Amino acid sequence: MVVKLKEVSMNIKKEFNTLKFEEVEGLGILTVNRPKSLNALNTEVHTELKEFLTSLKADNDFTIKGLVLIGEGEKAFIAGADIKEMLDMSVDEAKKFSHLGQEVSLLFEELSIPVIAACNGFALGGGCEMAMACDFMYATTNAVFGQPEVKLGLIPGFGGSQRLSKLIGRNKAKEIIYTGRNVAVDEAVELGLVVKVFETREELLNGSLETLKKITRNSPNAVAIAKRVMNEGNDLTVAAGLDVEMESFGAIFSSADKKEGTMAFVEKRRPVFTGK
Ligand code: CAA
Repeated sequence: MVVKLKEVSMNIKKEFNTLKFEEVEGLGILTVNRPKSLNALNTEVHTELKEFLTSLKADNDFTIKGLVLIGEGEKAFIAGADIKEMLDMSVDEAKKFSHLGQEVSLLFEELSIPVIAACNGFALGGGCEMAMACDFMYATTNAVFGQPEVKLGLIPGFGGSQRLSKLIGRNKAKEIIYTGRNVAVDEAVELGLVVKVFETREELLNGSLETLKKITRNSPNAVAIAKRVMNEGNDLTVAAGLDVEMESFGAIFSSADKKEGTMAFVEKRRPVFTGK
């Protein structure tokens, strides 16, 4: 059945208190919208992120072909988990809070579409953790990264103790987590944490959308499978990862996009991909 674009769009929830969602030519801009708290992640933000990402994940028709995650305002992407909310949490409440943040991070990772974290300022603690769960990070020159939790008597709770080591290597990650120090954007680029830097928030957003446009000229099906294979491989030995790659490489030969892409090359024309 061919599902009309508008119908599917309706299924993606868009009205929230702490988030803004806009659609630009099939690309999504998801803004964490608590600028007075520097977009800190409280239970409400997490609950709304979970709801939004769950509805987006269920959209198998690539209605939204790529997503940018950004923070409201010029100052912060996300300045971490909400410290005020954590003041009086019990052990069980803290576990629940961590679990919810981790669930959200996994939802970002498991979306079949590409997701760019556009880090427009402070990306500390939970902010750095959400950015690491996206496919890659772009940033503004004023962006600041770090996992300052130990300064608060805490540890990272939304995946930072696991993902940072995988991204930049265990020893560098330990140095950053144990000191809780700030990492300026130049260093974040050197570390491989940030891929590209822009002067302003507007340039960052436009640059992120431009990249997503480039990606979406390719087969959405192939990009989704590449994403899954690369994410799965992150937790496997190279040999086991090669098996995953081979299986998926084989499976993709039954897709319409593979037929279209290879045939278009031979026929010297642009491919028209359907994501199937
Ligand atoms: N939680 C709650 N509120 C926060 C916040 C956070 N993480 N970060 C900033 N805010 C609030 C401030 O309390 C302040 O609110 P009020 O005006 O009501 O006091 C407002 O945002 C503006 O912040 P500042 O006045 O502090 O702004 P600044 O420019 O002086 O400093 C900053 C900016 C360096 C980012 C500073 O706000 C800061 O250090 N924030 C906390 C960063 C942090 O430690 N993040 C890690 C949190 S722990 C975590 O994330 C755990 C986890 O993994 C689960």
